[in-house]
Amino acid sequence: MKSEELREKFLEFFQTRGHKVLPSASLLPENDPSVLFTTAGMHPLVPYLLGEKHPLGKRLCDVQKCLRTDDIDEVGDSQHCTFFEMLGYWSLGDYFKKESIHNTFDFYTEVLGFNKDDISVTVFAGDETAPFDQESFETWRNEIGIPENRIYKYGRKENWWGPVGETGPCGPCTEMFIDSGIEKCSKNCGPSCHCDKFVEIGNNVFMEFNKISADEYEPLMQKNVDVGLGFERLLMISQKKDDVFETDLFSPVIKKIEELSGKKYHDNLKEFRIIADHLRAATFAIADGAIPSNKGAGYVIRRLIRRALVYSYLLVGKIDNVSNSIYPIFRDIFEGVYDLSDEKILTTLNEEEIKYSSVLISGVELVGDKMDFDKFFDLYQSKGLHPELILEIMQRKGFEVTDRLKDELLSEFNNRLKKHQELSRTASAGMFKGGLADNKIETTRLHTAAHLLLAALRQILSPDVLQKGSNITDERLRFDFNWSEKLTPSQIEQIESIVNEKIKENIPVEVKESSIADAKASGASGVFDDRYGEKVKVYTIGSFSKEICGGPHVKNTGELGVFKITKEESSSAGVRRIKAVLEN
Ligand code: ALA
Repeated sequence: MKSEELREKFLEFFQTRGHKVLPSASLLPENDPSVLFTTAGMHPLVPYLLGEKHPLGKRLCDVQKCLRTDDIDEVGDSQHCTFFEMLGYWSLGDYFKKESIHNTFDFYTEVLGFNKDDISVTVFAGDETAPFDQESFETWRNEIGIPENRIYKYGRKENWWGPVGETGPCGPCTEMFIDSGIEKCSKNCGPSCHCDKFVEIGNNVFMEFNKISADEYEPLMQKNVDVGLGFERLLMISQKKDDVFETDLFSPVIKKIEELSGKKYHDNLKEFRIIADHLRAATFAIADGAIPSNKGAGYVIRRLIRRALVYSYLLVGKIDNVSNSIYPIFRDIFEGVYDLSDEKILTTLNEEEIKYSSVLISGVELVGDKMDFDKFFDLYQSKGLHPELILEIMQRKGFEVTDRLKDELLSEFNNRLKKHQELSRTASAGMFKGGLADNKIETTRLHTAAHLLLAALRQILSPDVLQKGSNITDERLRFDFNWSEKLTPSQIEQIESIVNEKIKENIPVEVKESSIADAKASGASGVFDDRYGEKVKVYTIGSFSKEICGGPHVKNTGELGVFKITKEESSSAGVRRIKAVLEN
């Protein structure tokens, strides 16, 4: 089965079971400052998991682009990718455990042809805060017929999902694994083992709790099912490969690297996999708007490109047109599925490659036989060379790397890194407080204020003003719009005063579902036209504002407080940026 076919078959199957198809959201979450990337299919759905009504109904499915870099160092094995596609389906307060387990199992066996005897599952064993997941256990054993010795009961670490922030929807999960056919590595080997025997193929999360404080959970009013199936791994199994890099998602790239390097994939697994995986992830992130930089999402992209370049160097001893050779192959592999044709992708990759190659080469030259710890760090900080890479370069240069040197340097480096990470974690902890999509009332108020702001800009500047992006936290809103000139103090004052007038008028904020065509015909504006499929929500504020938007919003403008513009500046060519707050 080709990759295109697997995506289609998944969506077709879940449509026949009453699910509506959503388009994949961007890898860069919009209006969600709490995460750098979309890391699971459920991110764009958080408001609906918390109870908002989705315009397409209670059963949804999609193929979502995701990027996870928490296990970047595991890339190099046969199954880990930083960028991946997640086949996801959801029940938003509709069916629950039994039907969902049947749905997943039927998809594996009826559509993919997996053999029941090769499937093992895990269920939540229960602990002091939540009970053993009896219903999932019994569904697997009594209805599906998985024997008890292949139903593993695990604790919170393995079988509990979410919340991603400190509070929010979460619950026990049941995970599915396929037997790779290799022998168990020990008597206790099971799905939680890190050997390659059990390949994880999916996770059904039963969001039945709302975490309300550090150790308090309350039952959710709406019980949801959130399912994620790993596309690359399912493809690997359907195509009878031992390795995701041998599927049609990667094989043309692997072939190209073999051709360019004159080396064989099977002799250089780690290098090939890192080059292919990281360049693919960077390509997708740049296509969705990420730009390599020294912070946030940009830093992650920079790190991915640089790691790919280091491993290209380790493979062939030079860096030569890596992006030019590899990027077009990914563009062609995904043609018709994801549009990767924007020329900014190659330009950005090339710029980063040119910038880093000379730094890397000079760093490699500094690697010698007498490496003390301070020199290692320096090379890490100034040349982006991780100590493991330095040790690898030393070995390839023919210097002696004793186990003692290796252990001492890596353990000292990890100690220092841990301290550094601890400090950054403390510094950024506040960023994750609100959970995935921030549903705090302060944030909701600012969402509504952004609608008033756009309508006021149209009144004062021009009816052609469009939103070009926004970012809203619980403290402030940031709003970009198409306008080339700096706003005058009088324009800023007029905009503020119109917004504040509308707040004083206590206008109800009303929401209506409609088709995209009807919403557009009614004059609604919006930048998210393709996000919800054929149905959208239209929020109106009297006759003043009408916008397509996913919400959430307050019920009445009177709830907003006093609107104040704190900054007006240029964002990029032809785009101005306003920052504003609501004061009590
Ligand atoms: N959200 C769940 C996961 O990512 C399905 O595993």
